[in-house]
Amino acid sequence: MALALAAGGSALAAGPAAAAPGVTGARASVDLAECPWMDTALSADERAGLLLDASSLGQKYRWLNEQAANTPEQTEFSGVSYPEQVGCTPTIVYTDGPDGVRFTEGVTAFPAQIALASSWNSDLAFDKGAAQAAEAWDKGKAGVLGPGIASGRTPLSGRTAEYLGEDPLLSGTLGAANTQGLEKGDPEKPTLAVLKHYVGNEQETARQTSSSNLDERTLKEAYDLPFEILIDGGAPAGVMCSYNQINGVYGCENPLLNTDLRGQLGFDGYVVSDFGAVHSTADALNAGLDQELNRPIHYTPTLLDAAIADGSLTEATVDTAARNVVRSYIGAGLFDKPAPTTPVADASTPEHKALARSIAEEGSVLLKNDGLLPLDASDGSTIALIGPTVSNTPTNGVSASSVCSMSWPFGNPSTLNCEDVVAPDTAFTSRAAEAGASVVVSNGADQVAAAATAAAADVAIVFGYYRSGEFTDIPGLGLADGGDDLIAAVAAANPNTVVVLETGSATDMPWLDQVDGVLQAWYPGEQQGPALASLLWGDTNPSGKLPMTFPKSLADTPTATPEQYPGVVDADGITQVDYSEGLQIGHKWYDEQGIEPLFEFGHGLSYTSFDYSDLELSTAVSGGAVETTASFTLTNTGSVAGTEVPQVYLTLPESAGEPGKRLVDYDRVSLEPGASQRVTTVISSETADHPYSIWNVDTDAWEVVDGGYTVSVGSSSRALPLSGPVVVDTAGTAPVVTVATSPSAPDGAAGWFVSPVTVTATAVDDVDSAPVVSTNLDGAGWVDGGSVTVSADGAHTIEVRATDAAGTVSAVTRVELPIDRAAPTVSAAADREAGTIVLTASDATSGVGSVEWAPAGLAPAWQSYTGPLPVASAGETIVFRATDVAGIVSEVGSFDYAAAAPTPTPTSTPAPSASPAPGAGSPGGGLASTGFAAGGIAALALLLVAGGAVTVLVRRRGVRSAG
Ligand code: BGC
Repeated sequence: MALALAAGGSALAAGPAAAAPGVTGARASVDLAECPWMDTALSADERAGLLLDASSLGQKYRWLNEQAANTPEQTEFSGVSYPEQVGCTPTIVYTDGPDGVRFTEGVTAFPAQIALASSWNSDLAFDKGAAQAAEAWDKGKAGVLGPGIASGRTPLSGRTAEYLGEDPLLSGTLGAANTQGLEKGDPEKPTLAVLKHYVGNEQETARQTSSSNLDERTLKEAYDLPFEILIDGGAPAGVMCSYNQINGVYGCENPLLNTDLRGQLGFDGYVVSDFGAVHSTADALNAGLDQELNRPIHYTPTLLDAAIADGSLTEATVDTAARNVVRSYIGAGLFDKPAPTTPVADASTPEHKALARSIAEEGSVLLKNDGLLPLDASDGSTIALIGPTVSNTPTNGVSASSVCSMSWPFGNPSTLNCEDVVAPDTAFTSRAAEAGASVVVSNGADQVAAAATAAAADVAIVFGYYRSGEFTDIPGLGLADGGDDLIAAVAAANPNTVVVLETGSATDMPWLDQVDGVLQAWYPGEQQGPALASLLWGDTNPSGKLPMTFPKSLADTPTATPEQYPGVVDADGITQVDYSEGLQIGHKWYDEQGIEPLFEFGHGLSYTSFDYSDLELSTAVSGGAVETTASFTLTNTGSVAGTEVPQVYLTLPESAGEPGKRLVDYDRVSLEPGASQRVTTVISSETADHPYSIWNVDTDAWEVVDGGYTVSVGSSSRALPLSGPVVVDTAGTAPVVTVATSPSAPDGAAGWFVSPVTVTATAVDDVDSAPVVSTNLDGAGWVDGGSVTVSADGAHTIEVRATDAAGTVSAVTRVELPIDRAAPTVSAAADREAGTIVLTASDATSGVGSVEWAPAGLAPAWQSYTGPLPVASAGETIVFRATDVAGIVSEVGSFDYAAAAPTPTPTSTPAPSASPAPGAGSPGGGLASTGFAAGGIAALALLLVAGGAVTVLVRRRGVRSAG
C-alpha cells in the first residue's frame, strides 16, 4: 500500500550522445576533448567538476543567475555583463507552474493541483507530471517551476489550489510522484522540476514582507516534513526558496537552506530563489541560495567580486553553488537532450486531454448526496443548469474558462490558457440527450429568472465559484457574485437541487441543508464538462476525498486571531505572523480542539458503500526501528462498482504531545459490487514521514516515542470504523514484576506455610498498560495469568514473568513455597524382650520436630520422647503425639503395654555386635511394628531431618536396669 516510487537522486545516469558546443535542440556529436563534461559515461558530479575546472570565475558566476545560466550565448543581461559561457552548455527555459504549462497555447489545461490531491492517486500524479513535462519540453521549456506544497494553515491562502492539501504525508507523497513524473516521465524529453516554496510560505497577504514566526518543533514536523517526504520520494533537481522570512530571516538567505533543506532533509540539488526574493549577495550564497531567479540583481559579477574582496564570500562557496546548479542540470539530462528551440505548435495530445478528464473525475469530491445523485433523468425530464460558469459564453466576464484554472492578475485571466474548455452546458446537454432528458441553461445573473428556470425543471444543478490564485488571499469562504444567494434561491425553487462548486479552497455553504447534493470540483481544467457530466450521471463513480478540512466558519480555523493571520505589521513594516497554533493545523487542529468541521479531511462519498472489517495488527521492534503491519478487509457492499480510498491514521501516545492523529498511509482500491479485498499497509519508523517519531529539540533529531499508539482505519479522518492498539518499546524496557503471597508470610514454624498459598503477580511497564503475566508452577510450563493457589504439601517453586506488548520479557522472579499442612504420623509398639515402649514418628514434608509421651491421664504432662520407655508395670498405658517442624501436632495416640500383642518366641538371639541398618529388622526382634533387634543393649535416638521421617540410629547406652 505504501507508495512504491522509483528511487532517484538528481545525479542521473548519463543520457544520450552529447550536443555540439552552443547547439541547443538538435543533437550532434561533440568533441569530448573540447567539452569533457559531455562524456555521458561519467557521473553528473564528475561532469560538473570537469566543466567548472575549465571555467573562469566569471563563467562560474553565470550559473548563479537564471538568465546568465540558461542563456549561455548571451553576455549582457539588463546591463550586467558576463563573459561567454564555456561550450556545450544548453539553453534552458524555465516555465512556471505546478498546474500546467502556463500562459502558452497548445497545451493541456489540467485541473488544479488541489484536484490532483483530491484523487489521492499517486499514479495520476506521476502521469500528470509526465504529461506536463512533455508539453513543457515540446514548447522548448525544460525547467518546470513546480510542484508546490504548503501546509494549509489557513483556507484563505490564495494559492491553496496550487498546492496539494494540508497533510504532510498526502502532499509529500503525491508531490513526490508528481516530481518523478516531471523529471522521469519521458527520458526523451528531459525536464527538471523545482519544488517550491521553502519554507513557511502559507499566505499571499504580505508574502514578501512577512515573517513566519514558528518554533523549532513546529518547523520540523509541520513545515519541513512535507518537503522531506517529497524530496525523499521525488528527488527534485531544484528547490525554490520563499519570499517570506522565517523567524526574521528571509527564506532565500536563511541558514535553514543548508542546515535543514540540505542537511536534514537530504536535498542534493540546487536552490533557486523566488522571483525577486533575494535580498543579499554574500548572506544568501553563504546560506545556501545557488541561483537568483530572473535577471541579475544581487548575484551580479560586480557584487560577487566585491563580496569575495571584502572576505564575506569565498570562491569556494561560489564553486559550490555553481556546482550545485550544473550538477543538477546535467543530472536531469538537460545537457544531453536540450528542449527544441522551435516549439511544437500543439503539445497537447488526446492522451493528455483524457488525463485532464481523469484528474477532474477522480479529483472531484462528492461532499453530500441525499440520494438524488446519480441523476436518473428519464424521458421527458428537464435539467436546469444554472450559473455563469456553466457555459463558454461569458456572463459579466465569467465563463467556464474562468474556473478552468487559477486566476492570474496580469494580462492573462488564468494561469493556464484554457483555450479548449469543454463547458458543462455542452457536455450535459449531450449526456442528458442520451438519457432522453433535456437541459435548460440560466447564467444566474438574474436570480429570480434563475429560480424560475429551476422551478420549471425536474432537477436543478447550480454552479458556485470564486476565483483565487497567486498575489492575493481570498477574502472569506463565500462564493463570488452572490453565488450563495443564487444557490439558496435555486434550492428554494426546486427541491431537487445539486450544487457544483468550482473554487480553489473551502467554502462555508450556508445553504447546505437546503440542497440534495454537493460536488466539489475545484478548478476542473479544460475537460470539466465531460468529467462533471460523467460524475453526476454516475458513469464515473466519485472517488475523490478532501485533501483539506472545510471549516464551518473562519472562526473555527486554527489561525483565527489577527496575530496568526494575516499577522501584525511591526515598526519596520514587516508583518509578523505568529504560528502560535504550532502543530495544530489542518485536521489535527479540529481533532485536538474537538471542533466539528463542515467536511473533514479525507471525506468524500461514492455511489456505492464500503465496509471495513477484520483489522489485524502486528508490530516488531528491531534495533530501535518499529514496523507495524496492519491489514484489513474492504468490501464493496453497494450495488455498483466503485473505488474507495482507505486511510490509515496513527494516534501517538500522550507523552508525544502530538495533536490529533497522523495520516500514515492511504490507497485506492477498486471493487465490483460484493467484492472484498484484503488491504495491507506497513507503518515503519524508518520512512521519511517519521510516523512514530517527534522532533526532539534537545537532541536535534527525530526520535521514536515509546508508548501506546492507536491505529485507525476508515474512509475519512473522522469515519474510522476500525482501530487497534500498538505498543512501541524501542528502549526494550522490560516490565517489572511484583509478586505477593497470601498469607503474606509463612504461617507455620521454620518457614513453612501450613495453609494454602495464593500467589498473585502484577507487572508494570513504562509503555504498556497491561503486560501479560505468566506463571510456571514446579516447572510444569508457563501459563498466562497472574494468580495461582497452591495447596498441596510439598516444597514448591513458582516462577513468574511478564511480557509487554512489544514482546519484551521481564526477568523471571522465583518464589519458593514450602507447604506442610499434614500432621506427622506417630505410633507406639511394645518391645517385650526389652520391656519398653517404642514410639515411631514420621512426617513426609517438614520432618518430625518432636515426639512426646505421657502417662495416660486426664491432663497429660508431656515429656519428650528420647528413646524407648521402660515399662514400670505390666499394665502401663501411655499417650503420645508428634509435632512436625512446621509446628503441626499429630493427634494424640494411646498405647496399652499390657494389651499389646505378646512378643513372639524368639528363634535366636543374635550377637549384639552388629548394628542393623535402620528399619532392616532382625529375625526374632521384639518390636511390634518395626522389628528391631537390639540384644537388650541397644537404644534409640532421633535425628530430625527436615522434610523426612525420623531416622532411628543405634547407640550404646549400657544395660538397662529396669524391666
Ligand atoms: C511565484 C513563484 C513563481 C515565480 C516565477 C513568483 O511570483 O511565487 O511560484 O515560480 O513567481 O514565476
